[in-house]
Amino acid sequence: MRKIRFPRLAYNWISGVGLATALVTAFLMTFLYVIGIFARETNPYLGIFLYMVMPPILVFGLLLIPLGMLRRWLKVRKTGEEYYPAWPYIDLNRKTHRNAAMIFVFGTILFLGVGAVGSYHAYHFTESVTFCGKTCHEVMNPEYTAYQNSAHARVACVECHVGPGADWFAKSKLSGLYQVYAVTANVYPKPIPTPIENLRPARETCEQCHWPGKFFGAQQRIFNHFMYDKENTHWPINMLVKTGGGDPKTGEVSGIHWHTFISNKIEYIARDDQRLEIPWVRATNIKTGKVTIFQNEDEPLSQEEIDSAEVRTLDCMDCHNRPSHVYGSPDEVIDNVLFIDRINRNLPEIKRIAVEAMVQEYETSEQAKHGIANYITEYYMNEYPELYRENKEMIEQAVLETQTQFSQNIFPFMKVRWEEYPNNIGHFDSPGCMRCHEGKHVSEDGLMSITRNCDACHIIIGQGSGDRAEYSTTQEGLRFEHPEDIDEAWTEMGCYECHTGTQP
Ligand code: HEC
Ligand code: HEC
Ligand code: HEC
Ligand code: HEC
Ligand code: HEC
Ligand code: HEC
Repeated sequence: MRKIRFPRLAYNWISGVGLATALVTAFLMTFLYVIGIFARETNPYLGIFLYMVMPPILVFGLLLIPLGMLRRWLKVRKTGEEYYPAWPYIDLNRKTHRNAAMIFVFGTILFLGVGAVGSYHAYHFTESVTFCGKTCHEVMNPEYTAYQNSAHARVACVECHVGPGADWFAKSKLSGLYQVYAVTANVYPKPIPTPIENLRPARETCEQCHWPGKFFGAQQRIFNHFMYDKENTHWPINMLVKTGGGDPKTGEVSGIHWHTFISNKIEYIARDDQRLEIPWVRATNIKTGKVTIFQNEDEPLSQEEIDSAEVRTLDCMDCHNRPSHVYGSPDEVIDNVLFIDRINRNLPEIKRIAVEAMVQEYETSEQAKHGIANYITEYYMNEYPELYRENKEMIEQAVLETQTQFSQNIFPFMKVRWEEYPNNIGHFDSPGCMRCHEGKHVSEDGLMSITRNCDACHIIIGQGSGDRAEYSTTQEGLRFEHPEDIDEAWTEMGCYECHTGTQP
């Protein structure tokens, strides 16, 4: 067999290194790709190497080849050891040129073909839940964990965070590049601050799947509370939440969604970055064009502050700010597991003890695991020694479940806890609706205020248990009854002023 020969210029060490690099990388990429096909689990690091690290190396190797030739050519021309014309030329009658040209032409076709398929895969890879959720494991762990427990566990991260369309794709990928850098250089904030600045507008994400014009009527919701007493008294609250909505074309429209969308545009100014303090609200009735400005009478904004402030239009995310990453408070998550009997509610005081064990400050998840076990076990060993001896499994089960709840809702590494990411949907352990509806927002003419009427958003159809249980038989529902005697304080104060996610 005769040896294939190339132009003499190609015989230099730089081109050689380039060729070797390109060949080795191409081989490795094929190898990884095949592994990826057969691997059962998708590993994010495989994808990162295959689609993000190796292609630049391959291109770099290929670029070295002409670069080496150029260098050699410049050198040869300078020393004049051989004659070369001023411009490169291709003479297909010369075997070396023919070989090189063939390799170049077919190589380019092959490279473009594989490159096109590759970049398609790379595009999909960076859009995948695996990439977003698992790559920077520790960093995205809180969001990824909460996401898997949410109603949106089958909705890809990018459906909300990127959404369709080229411009947002570019925007999110550019800020994504910064994020990759931030994680590598360890300069990212903990916890990650919200609201997210570049989040795509709700109109273009949520409304791809949900359309508020099409929600009708009310939703029944039962909130199962357990008290902090010795008996862990069950206190359910059964409500109809007036979600509402409705298309004006099809008749009666009412409820939470309708008021804020189809007939009203609501804008507001927030004092803080988290948008928890909202002193100024402007409601525009879309049909009549009537504009009403409400100000918090206790702490109104000055005209200067209003003029220089950023006015934001209320959208889905202002209420549904935790559609996918809900970090439950200890109070709430322990209630849930008591309700479904994963912790036995006959264990005296377990509600209080489990919540107390969860809220201690722990440096790491590992430390939390031990801390929770010690806290609960020691308590029952000291206070209920007999019960401890006889019901060891019951207590062990309570420990295990409290540890699980901790690991799914509190993330020491990223400093993620329920207080850092308040949920704006209700008003029980964060201000939520009461940012505007606490009854202090009065219109400029003093005639109207944003409603604090307990029946405006929901009616109570049942509450309490045992002797104190009440059920409604009327359309108006029941007056709220607070389980503990607090002198009707709830009529003036917000629930969240006492209930902060732990024992009030
Ligand atoms: C149903 C829509 C939706 C899905 C699906 C979703 N997110 Fe989010 N995400 C949001 C919203 C809304 C926020 C809060 C925005 C705000 O408060 O400004 C958020 C916030 C975040 C934050 C900021 C920190 C925090 O906890 O609030 C991160 C990080 C994040 N998401 C990552 C992810 C990852 C990773 C996935 C996929 C595993 C994902 N998201 C899936 C809607 C979604
Ligand atoms: C790709 C489609 C898709 C997108 C985008 C999407 N959702 Fe959903 N959403 C769903 C599905 C599917 C469910 C589950 C329905 C069920 O379980 O009945 C759901 C359920 C919900 C629920 C009720 C479940 C609950 O947790 O109480 C709310 C509220 C909700 N979505 C709000 C939002 C908001 C706000 C956004 C934008 C940030 C959004 N969704 C974006 C598909 C989507
Ligand atoms: C002045 C403080 C205060 C206010 C305001 C307040 N609560 Fe309470 N709440 C308490 C105390 C104290 C308890 C008794 C804790 C226990 O033993 O369960 C309690 C107990 C409860 C319980 C029993 C379960 C549990 O988590 O302890 C429910 C349910 C409850 N409150 C609902 C509400 C609601 C809803 C509001 C607002 C409408 C509200 N509370 C306002 C102080 C308050
Ligand atoms: C003013 C606050 C507010 C705004 C703004 C808002 N929602 Fe809601 N939405 C609620 C409340 C409250 C519920 C009742 C659910 C509950 O109690 O958890 C709800 C319920 C829902 C549900 C569940 C309905 C069902 O029948 O299962 C979906 C889906 C939803 N909202 C989507 C959206 C979308 C999409 C937008 C933006 C176009 C939006 N919401 C804007 C407050 C709001
Ligand atoms: C940014 C301020 C703001 C927030 C936050 C807010 N609202 Fe409102 N809401 C308003 C304003 C302003 C009106 C009154 C519109 C009018 O009367 O023209 C209103 C009206 C309503 C109404 C109609 C009341 C009536 O008179 O029948 C309902 C229901 C409602 N909101 C529910 C909610 C719920 C539920 C939440 C929390 C999930 C919420 N709102 C959060 C500003 C807000
Ligand atoms: C602006 C609307 C609005 C007003 C006014 C309002 N609520 Fe609510 N409330 C809600 C929404 C929305 C939820 C449901 C939150 C959820 O789905 O998680 C809720 C939840 C609750 C719950 C169950 C909370 C839990 O976690 O157990 C109670 C109890 C309650 N409200 C009592 C009251 C009382 C008492 C008043 C009057 C002082 C009142 N609400 C006024 C919107 C409102």
